[in-house]
Amino acid sequence: MPIAYLNGEWLPVEEARVSVLDRGFLFGDGVYEVIPVYNGNLFCLTRHVERLKNSLSEVHLAEPLMDVDWESLLAEAVEKSGETFASVYLQVTRGADVARSFVYPENPTPTIFIMVNSAPQLANREVKAIQLVTLEDFRWERGHIKTISLIAAGMLKNQAIAAGADDAVLVKNGEVTEATSANLFAVIDGTIVTPPKSTSLLHGITRDVIVELARLNGLPIEERSLLPQELEIADEVFISSSTMEAWPVDQINGKPIGNGEPGLVWQKVDKLFQAHKLL
Ligand code: PDD
Repeated sequence: MPIAYLNGEWLPVEEARVSVLDRGFLFGDGVYEVIPVYNGNLFCLTRHVERLKNSLSEVHLAEPLMDVDWESLLAEAVEKSGETFASVYLQVTRGADVARSFVYPENPTPTIFIMVNSAPQLANREVKAIQLVTLEDFRWERGHIKTISLIAAGMLKNQAIAAGADDAVLVKNGEVTEATSANLFAVIDGTIVTPPKSTSLLHGITRDVIVELARLNGLPIEERSLLPQELEIADEVFISSSTMEAWPVDQINGKPIGNGEPGLVWQKVDKLFQAHKLL
């Protein structure tokens, strides 16, 4: 049974309970992180904690218990779980109020929840390319905040599935932003292109690692705006996230990308990532 941490207590996840007055439940008022564990180590832990702090600050949620040492709490969760390849979910909400009110409580007691789920595919993956459809990005104007308010992302993901695809390429003001829970890369004329960081997309940590690895290893890469029409002429497209790592796309809107096989550039990126994640 996966282990969970809830406000200072360790317990099996099925036994964890929060109040129905928790603002996370009533308003989706909270932020989260998903952190992969490779060989027992939390990957890019400092970056995830930094992004969590940014998200908390963006939603004006004072860091719970000033002295929460996120890094040691997360490491303790992994240790208690006994997992070596896993996915750690951390969520912080504004906690329970005395009643449902749009106004923030003056001195909230945030709810801190962590669960560790085994993720054996992170050790040994079988990669099957996925299909995307382009959809209008109707989420909100603060895409860089990793909020638990995910209904729009869920609607888009399910709309993509209903259209026979696996996920969506989201397009906002005529430009590609990302997929519903992953960043997006295209290979165009030998250069890897990914949309620049902005408030329209999540600043993915896997994305950053891929950009850095490409630069270090001489793979041409550019962070620039990407038009949906460019995806039609791209030689390769792939997505990235903490749960998928770098993952190839073989079709967009029913049309094959390149020769319809996971491409050479993706293979190189994946090889670099697989070596890097175990360092
Ligand atoms: N999602 N963009 C969005 C909208 C995301 O939700 C995610 C991650 C990413 C990739 O970020 P990272 O590389 O830091 O995981 C990009 C997580 C995995 C989730 O919601 O489960």
